[in-house]
Amino acid sequence: MRAAVLYEPKTPLVVEDLDLLPPRANEVLVRLASAGVCRSDHHFMAGHAPFPTPVVLGHEGAAIVEELGPSVSNLKVGDPVILSFVPNCGFCHFCTIGRPYLCDVGSVARGGLMDGTTRLRKGDMEIYQFAKLGCFGQYAVVPESACIKLPQGFPLDQAALMGCSVPTGVGAVINTAQVEAGSTVAVVGCGGVGLNIIQGARLVNAGKIIAVDISDGALKMAERFGATDGVNSSKEDPVARVRELTGGLGADYTFESFGSATTAKVAYEAARKAGTVTIVGLAPVGESVSIDLTTLTRMEKIVRGCYYGSARPHVDFPKLTRLVQEGKLDLAILKQRSYGLDQVNEAYEDLENGLPGRGVIVYE
Ligand SMILES: NC(=O)c1ccc[n+]([C@@H]2O[C@H](COP(=O)([O-])OP(=O)(O)OC[C@H]3O[C@@H](n4cnc5c(N)ncnc54)[C@H](O)[C@@H]3O)[C@@H](O)[C@H]2O)c1
Ligand SMILES: [Zn+2]
Ligand SMILES: [Zn+2]
Repeated sequence: MRAAVLYEPKTPLVVEDLDLLPPRANEVLVRLASAGVCRSDHHFMAGHAPFPTPVVLGHEGAAIVEELGPSVSNLKVGDPVILSFVPNCGFCHFCTIGRPYLCDVGSVARGGLMDGTTRLRKGDMEIYQFAKLGCFGQYAVVPESACIKLPQGFPLDQAALMGCSVPTGVGAVINTAQVEAGSTVAVVGCGGVGLNIIQGARLVNAGKIIAVDISDGALKMAERFGATDGVNSSKEDPVARVRELTGGLGADYTFESFGSATTAKVAYEAARKAGTVTIVGLAPVGESVSIDLTTLTRMEKIVRGCYYGSARPHVDFPKLTRLVQEGKLDLAILKQRSYGLDQVNEAYEDLENGLPGRGVIVYE
């Protein structure tokens, strides 16, 4: 099988042949259909966060089940599936309290599957699997709990987006922040994830939806997803403009979806008194932000993190899939570009250059 391997941060991915060991208990072999070009993989390529190497990255994927390992009971060969980047164990504290996206086993970034070992080899060399998946490869052996069945006929070239950007962005609105109809919303960073926050806000009938980005292309795209106003923060003060657009109050809900101290600060300051600030972007490891504590106290702001849209994949992904089928969430416009696996480095250059919407690696 062909896969894109990261040997060291700040070096291009190497697309090459790898061997794949058969699935063990509670694992399945899948053939990838599509894999999204998400910034979270880019953090590891850029060295913003450590991860064991060599590794096959790619955590936003859709696939077809090809072979079942022992004890797999919920899937059959030929099932189309969305891949969850936090396969959950079902037994830890967080799985048990209904927060499987925080699973103690599934959310640990150590490069192996649930038992800590990897099924990818190059000769004798072990190759790690990012997020217990490794979607930048033609095939992968993944945990059964990472597979959420898709209805037959769902467009597989777009289905990868259901594995990260859609549940993260829409989930941030519905599950994490719980935005009410009519509320004002500001979204700082309108790429793959931010556009889904915007369409999530539209879905729940938010009032004003203010898109903030440094790229006019991203702002134009944001408008297509339901943004009522656009603010180019490289040309005007985004905090002052959000206040102006919200009658001097600041937004009821703000979201950070780029991943930096600067954008987190904008999201914090653009929220109104008693407003909720949801941090969705992943900043480089070790980066912190300072806020004036008196504003936190006296303005009663609420700051919260959001991992994977606080989604319970086996419950929420089928719901989101139905919303796509009913035309209430868009994937077709979100997927702006298709690439072959051999073009994965080009795909990430396009992400770095801020091309609007999401790129997707589509497998043959
Ligand atoms: N919390 C989670 O579970 C989760 C899941 C997926 C992605 N993420 C993170 O979310 C972030 C966004 O991912 P993505 O794939 O949408 O990235 P992306 O590259 O597609 O989009 C980022 C957007 O931010 C804009 N931007 C850059 N600098 C900015 C600035 N100073 N002010 C305003 N906008 C700015 C870019 O122009 C771009 O439109 C990343 O940090 C990613 O790792 C988190
Ligand atoms: Zn992602
Ligand atoms: Zn668990």
